[in-house]
Amino acid sequence: MEVQLSRCHLVIACFVLAVVCSARALEDDLDRPLIPGAPGAPVRLSLTDPELMKAVKFAEERYNVGSNGLHIRRVSKIISASKQLVKGVRYSITVEIGRTQCKKSEVLDISEACEFFPESHKQKTEVCLFEVWDIPWQNKSTLLKQKCQPAVPKETPKIVRIPLSKDKPTKESLELLTMFKDFMVKYNRTYSSQEEAEKRLHIFQKNLKTAETLQSLDQGTAEYGVTKFSDLTEDEFRMMYLNPMLSQWSLQKKMKPAAPASKAAPESWDWREHGAVSPVKNQGMCGSCWAFSVTGNIEGQWFKKTGQLLSLSEQELVDCDKLDQACGGGLPSNAYEAIETLGGLETETDYSYTGHKQRCGFSTGKVVAYINSSVELPKEENDIAAWLVENGPVSAALNAFAMQFYRKGISHPLKIFCNPWMIDHAVLLVGYGERNGIPFWTIKNSWGEDYGEQGYYYLYRGSGLCGINKMCSSALVN
Ligand SMILES: *[C@@H]1O[C@H](CO)[C@@H](O)[C@H](O)[C@H]1NC(C)=O
Ligand SMILES: *[C@@H]1O[C@H](CO)[C@@H](O)[C@H](O)[C@H]1NC(C)=O
Ligand SMILES: *[C@@H]1O[C@H](CO)[C@@H](O)[C@H](O)[C@H]1NC(C)=O
Repeated sequence: MEVQLSRCHLVIACFVLAVVCSARALEDDLDRPLIPGAPGAPVRLSLTDPELMKAVKFAEERYNVGSNGLHIRRVSKIISASKQLVKGVRYSITVEIGRTQCKKSEVLDISEACEFFPESHKQKTEVCLFEVWDIPWQNKSTLLKQKCQPAVPKETPKIVRIPLSKDKPTKESLELLTMFKDFMVKYNRTYSSQEEAEKRLHIFQKNLKTAETLQSLDQGTAEYGVTKFSDLTEDEFRMMYLNPMLSQWSLQKKMKPAAPASKAAPESWDWREHGAVSPVKNQGMCGSCWAFSVTGNIEGQWFKKTGQLLSLSEQELVDCDKLDQACGGGLPSNAYEAIETLGGLETETDYSYTGHKQRCGFSTGKVVAYINSSVELPKEENDIAAWLVENGPVSAALNAFAMQFYRKGISHPLKIFCNPWMIDHAVLLVGYGERNGIPFWTIKNSWGEDYGEQGYYYLYRGSGLCGINKMCSSALVN
């Protein structure tokens, strides 16, 4: 098994990846029952198994590539491990991982020579669940999953029991029920059965805990809590709203680099104040964020060219862009190319959004805006800001984990919740600025106006947070 990380592995890994950095459900994964002896069932491993050690080393390397930490982190303890025979072997490994005294910039290799900080608070221990998929005959390893959370001193977990009708309600359970009822009213939820309602209540409760964790560790001013997604599990949310194709971004065709901006970025900018941004739209239960990101960008480009703000059709892309996968995700770089091939975009009114794929009903006669090419922006956030001011709103993508729980303020989640290599959502940068000294990006989202601050998400600016700088692009209209 080759554990060296190559470009190729990175790409393959991104392809299969469903990595989530979540504080939630780790406990569930830890006590997932193993069915002993069944063919194909996972089996517990001896913690000194040599093949397991190789898988741990591989996960450790991938973890370090994905984190922006200054120091190398290493596994300090394997808590549990199992393997399952699939096509190859799938390892599920729970470990403690801590900060070593080696700086990434100073060492090329994670080696035994990197010592942990002797003081445990400097070690900043995390508990991580990794899933590694090995195909030994292809010398191939892939990190399928990485879920980390800060290791907290053990206390007895306080779980509010969900009251069944025969139980006497406690104060906590009544509070929870009240919040859940408010949520159901506010977001117009009905459930088909008592069973379903109890299941959703349980998910709601878990989501509240995740929001609390995000809240307690947020370094910005964000408020996390109940959102319209609060009754969805992370996997449901990911499947319905996010975009798995974006994790293949390193496979995308190289775009031309954008010509640099001619002036430095001013202190703040907001394209909404200059009429270049249409009202917030709603992608519904369809992974079409990529289409909204791209139409938002082209609306801005067309406004710059003509002075006219049009609302352009995402459904045209969902139905007619053969390079992307409709509600299953897409890449902005592909969408630009598809729009060039089609000949342009119709308006929102002429080709309106349904949120599911239909037969392509595009007609050339209804094209109201075209593009001539597309470009990739630099990765430096100041350069992106300067380009945005001179050229218009920018299509961008990011890791959206914290967005599920976001209500308002400037979101600045810890990196472990927001691996910048695990991009799964496309959005539109429409401006930037500072609130009380905290720099932010103004991000137009496509989850309706009842999301975040009137449909907008504010993310800390300046550290490439959640990968926001990694996939910025724009169409060009000549
Ligand atoms: C896998 O690696 C081993 C040793 O590094 C090498 O001998 C073998 O040829 C490789 N196999 C493949 C399929 O690359
Ligand atoms: C609430 O949901 C029901 C069915 O799910 C729908 O018919 C109704 O229009 C919704 N009401 C609002 C105000 O959205
Ligand atoms: C840009 O594209 C449009 C539509 O395809 C085309 O009519 C126009 O000539 C192009 N402009 C340039 C400068 O190539």
